[in-house]
Amino acid sequence: EMAEKEGYDYFMIKEINEEGTAIKNTLTEKDNIKKITDDLSDINRIVFVACGTSYHASLTGKYLLESLAGIPTDVLLASEFKYSENTLNDETLVIFISQSGETADTLKALNIANETSKTLAIVNVAGSSATRRAKYVIHTQAGPEIGVAATKTYVSQLTSIYLFAALLAHDDNLLERLQKVPEYFEDILKDSEIIEKMASKYKYAQDFFFIGRGYAYPIALEGALKLKEITYIHGEGYAAGELKHGPLALIDQGVPVVVVLPPGENHRKTMSNLEEVKSRGADVIAVGSFNDEKLISKANDLFLINDEVDDLIAPLVYIIPLQLLSYYIAIERGLDPDKPKNLAKCVTVE
Ligand code: G6P
Repeated sequence: EMAEKEGYDYFMIKEINEEGTAIKNTLTEKDNIKKITDDLSDINRIVFVACGTSYHASLTGKYLLESLAGIPTDVLLASEFKYSENTLNDETLVIFISQSGETADTLKALNIANETSKTLAIVNVAGSSATRRAKYVIHTQAGPEIGVAATKTYVSQLTSIYLFAALLAHDDNLLERLQKVPEYFEDILKDSEIIEKMASKYKYAQDFFFIGRGYAYPIALEGALKLKEITYIHGEGYAAGELKHGPLALIDQGVPVVVVLPPGENHRKTMSNLEEVKSRGADVIAVGSFNDEKLISKANDLFLINDEVDDLIAPLVYIIPLQLLSYYIAIERGLDPDKPKNLAKCVTVE
């Protein structure tokens, strides 16, 4: 097992370091994805079905497909699929996202959707059940993922969805921008010491909040899921605009709030949410861009990213510091991030 870790302490950190390559490899799926989108000109609705981290990738898909392609899109948890199944028809495309291609809830929904609709599976494990059952298949080219918490497969799933949405919407500018994404990874990984220091500062926290708006919202949800999975600290992801409808009551002195704040149209509003939590004593951990002076002056802790990464492509990039934060907190707490208690890499029971 040591050999496979190639000198890294754990698979999770090895797999985080492989994310730039995973994205580059998944980008080679473009021609295959183009054939699929050419075949799907008559769809008028998309429904994503997934669990866990794959569900968060699906949420990003909804924002992309609705805003770029104008196709009404829903996102369902596979275990909740049955309540919506009678709304599907032959003009609906149902997209199943699954790293393993073997998650029981997802496969059950796929069997049902095959009866009425076009189905597409976005899967990392070649030859898995989902690849055999769906009408169309996109392979995320992340390579095998051993750590239970999904990392490189998540960014590969996102890359597939970005390609799919950009091709469906004939958005050549986005296609071009995607090619550049792997370049941002090296700089982020070079700065991982900043995250190690944050981890040692916040390792005893009992609750964390993660907030974001628009494309940054699923990033916040996924950041909170990673924290729960491998550090056993309660992490809650929230849409920044929903804070005032409940969670604000839980913000006290010293509660860490991770604010996901890429440049873009939501910046001003999320900044005012940052100010709200700060004025109630929260420790603001901000992930933002290098030239964001306002943010730099307000946050307690900062992780900064190339300012070319705006909110549209932030999901592919801004998740890395959040994965690293959970990883280093797990290490600080003496936990094995590859094998979290009570969890399995692939859940084959409903
Ligand atoms: C398990 C794993 C998660 C994963 C989820 C969905 O809970 O621990 O990391 O996101 O299953 O798995 P799938 O293979 O369908 O993407």
